[in-house]
Amino acid sequence: MIASFTDTIRERVEGIETMPAIPAVFLPLLKLLSSSAEGARVEEVVRLVSYDNTIAAQCLRVAGSPLFGMAQPPKSIKGAVIALGLRRVETILLTCCLGQAFPAMKWVLDPVVFWRHSLGCAMVCRKFSEKLAAVDTEKAYMAGLLHDIGFMVNCLVFSSEFAPAMQRACQDEIPLDEAERSTMGFTHCETGQALANRWKLADDVIEVIAHHHAIEQSAKAQPLVALVHLSDLLCRMRGLGYGYYERHKVDLIADPAWAILSKEYRDLEGMDLVRFTFELDEAVEEIHTLVATVFGSVPPRA
Ligand SMILES: [Fe+2]
Ligand SMILES: [Fe+2]
Repeated sequence: MIASFTDTIRERVEGIETMPAIPAVFLPLLKLLSSSAEGARVEEVVRLVSYDNTIAAQCLRVAGSPLFGMAQPPKSIKGAVIALGLRRVETILLTCCLGQAFPAMKWVLDPVVFWRHSLGCAMVCRKFSEKLAAVDTEKAYMAGLLHDIGFMVNCLVFSSEFAPAMQRACQDEIPLDEAERSTMGFTHCETGQALANRWKLADDVIEVIAHHHAIEQSAKAQPLVALVHLSDLLCRMRGLGYGYYERHKVDLIADPAWAILSKEYRDLEGMDLVRFTFELDEAVEEIHTLVATVFGSVPPRA
């Protein structure tokens, strides 16, 4: 990428700070997710959410919805954590933050589709890392959740450049990063990296954001980048993609990322991939319903 592109991206990303975008509790919540053990973060989550009554109320409404099948809807965030577990409540909270920020904005990529894919990828990354007893599972979740934040940047500050790329991807049924590269000259990986630097995210998460479509360029944290790359492909195969049909057929085992992970983790060789993808189905359903409950609309699965 030529220097002027890098400068333009950085300048426009700096402009995001002044835009009404994401509720203030979003970033601290994200940081909490990977910063400490579950037990220690309950109080922190409760404290953080107490600063935002709207998010707290919406979280309680979703936690009490039929999706989670509770006899008694929780009356407090702490009550929700006790009933549903911290991980689920954190997911609900993050979804509520995004749900509050984006419907009011004009998005090239539907925010429901974007967030459904991101949450799906986070969940697959967590389950994948548990299977392999590899990579810190919370780190994997975080990396999966944030891998495509560059699309947020594209929608917020590069929408006139991003719209034709999205159109080409849909028309030619090609991967979105390919369409971005040929239409815009850069991708959500570069814009995501700029935002991640701005947000001061952890180095290995930045590495994932920057290289999840080009693992060979990743110098650090290759196993984590490979794990997110494969989880992203799995999501796109299981109806948690970018909202359009991709012609490209995926062979996970032939993918270079598979070789990288196999070298690192022997457990991968014995893994039953077909069974694993079926195991994901229940969790995939929960994500579809959660995102539909928060955003109030259900775009087609793709
Ligand atoms: Fe991506
Ligand atoms: Fe993705």
